[in-house]
Amino acid sequence: MDIIVFEHLTAEQRAQCAEILREAFAAVEAYSEPGEAEAEIESFFVDPDRFAMAAVEKGRVLGLVGGIIAYTHAVELHPLAVEAGHRGRGIGAALTRALEERAAAMGRLTVYLGTDDEVGGTSLFGADIFPGALAKLAAIAPTTGHPFFFYRKLGYEPVGLIPDANGFGKPDLLMAKRVKAP
Ligand SMILES: CC(C)(COP(=O)(O)OP(=O)(O)OC[C@H]1O[C@@H](n2cnc3c(N)ncnc32)[C@H](O)[C@@H]1OP(=O)(O)O)[C@@H](O)C(=O)NCCC(=O)NCCS
Repeated sequence: MDIIVFEHLTAEQRAQCAEILREAFAAVEAYSEPGEAEAEIESFFVDPDRFAMAAVEKGRVLGLVGGIIAYTHAVELHPLAVEAGHRGRGIGAALTRALEERAAAMGRLTVYLGTDDEVGGTSLFGADIFPGALAKLAAIAPTTGHPFFFYRKLGYEPVGLIPDANGFGKPDLLMAKRVKAP
């Protein structure tokens, strides 16, 4: 499995990226409009503040990660997805590490991300976050499992949350990791 920058992808591999996004986020109805996933993939080719990488095996895309530059010293990780049949092989971790290395090489200090709990998976789902939102975030635990715990394993810390981002008890969990010494 190789990690390659988006600029080197063929048209067919770009289409595979869009399909992976659609499938990976179907449960939360993201990328559900026709052409929405393709537009997201395309944005990484045309927007100078975006960069992305794909995990490719035998010419086939198995996962992708994007980076969005919205601040001078921090990069947002968005999106990250691995094809369902290839999860648990270390591909998500490899893509995340590749993004961190690229961000550090660009002189960025920190990678941050938002991971929504809108269908359950953490102890915060369905709970009233007020009062004491940060204390509740600090005590977060898995219920049915959530990417929050994948990122925590890779060294990301919770740094905040958007309460009720997707409805009552459905927060967006914010996480970040230092990737380059200041
Ligand atoms: C989240 C996702 C990218 C992880 O990709 P992956 O290739 O399966 O992850 P890896 O195999 O690299 O896992 C790395 C480690 O994290 C662990 N891990 C993976 N998913 C996990 C989860 N949901 N909860 C806890 N740990 C998890 C793995 O067990 C592995 O641990 P190990 O190093 O001790 O073996 C993948 O599940 C996915 O595409 N999900 C759908 C899209 C999505 O939710 N993206 C993130 C939105 S913010």
